Amino acid sequence: MADTDAIRTFEHAGWEKAAGRYVESFATATRQFIPGLLDAAAVRAGLSVLDVACGPGFVASAAARRGASVRGLDFSAAMLGVARARHPGIAFEEGDAEALPYDDGAFDAVVSNFGVHHVPRPGVALRQAHRVLRPGGTIAFTIWAAPSENVAWKLVFDAIRRCGDMSASRAPAPGGGFGTPADCEDALRGAGFADVGTRRLGGVWRHPDGCAVLEALRSGTARMAALIDAQPGAAIPAIAADIDRAAAGYRDARGLAIPLSAFVAFGRVG
Ligand SMILES: C[S@@+](CC[C@H](N)C(=O)[O-])C[C@H]1O[C@@H](n2cnc3c(N)ncnc32)[C@H](O)[C@@H]1O
Repeated sequence: MADTDAIRTFEHAGWEKAAGRYVESFATATRQFIPGLLDAAAVRAGLSVLDVACGPGFVASAAARRGASVRGLDFSAAMLGVARARHPGIAFEEGDAEALPYDDGAFDAVVSNFGVHHVPRPGVALRQAHRVLRPGGTIAFTIWAAPSENVAWKLVFDAIRRCGDMSASRAPAPGGGFGTPADCEDALRGAGFADVGTRRLGGVWRHPDGCAVLEALRSGTARMAALIDAQPGAAIPAIAADIDRAAAGYRDARGLAIPLSAFVAFGRVG
């Protein structure tokens, strides 16, 4: 049984810390999936859209550029500070994905880009999304593919396995059980959604070298940062060198071009 308070406290502290450097670090990976996310929820002009776990607000801003009327919600005040500074025309609220502070049926679409799997009880967050959607409203959320299918993550985990200690992190285990597309579809059905499905999405994460990959994860994430920070200091150069060696096939004239793999899960209020 997941300790929901421990997960929430860990995630909250991690994202508060990451907020200041998130835009130039991890967001360079997450932003690539915004068009696929918005397409999966059929976000278009005239719709009222909620961006859950909005971070610095890039999804909200992209939805607004499509002509939607948008609000963003996140539980990190520091992330919201970045969002408000970058997108002054959009309303951003502090709140928890498991207890959305909105009326029933308030939105035409709810989207979340790499947010739902950070919530201690993703099923509760999906039920909340269902509650705030009108009949016929759409939901879409993105989640990373498993490390075995996601080259960037596999490079890092393999390097830590070979040169560091995968058990070093003191982070509580994630709450979700959201590892596969089937898990997401089951959770969407369990929350009451109809017409559920998933679609694979790809991207490319560019970095000069393995050291930069590690630094982007260390400064721009919560769980990966805890794992990297927990490595013995002497292991870090070896982990970075291992990534460089294993990623040789992804090197071009500009540096590393590492494939990213995610999927978007979607559904509709019947
Ligand atoms: C990987 S970031 C994604 C940010 C943004 N959606 C993007 O596309 O870059 C995860 C975000 O989820 C937020 N978050 C995690 N748990 C949350 C919760 N229970 N309620 C609201 N926001 C949460 C974090 O504060 C962080 O901004």
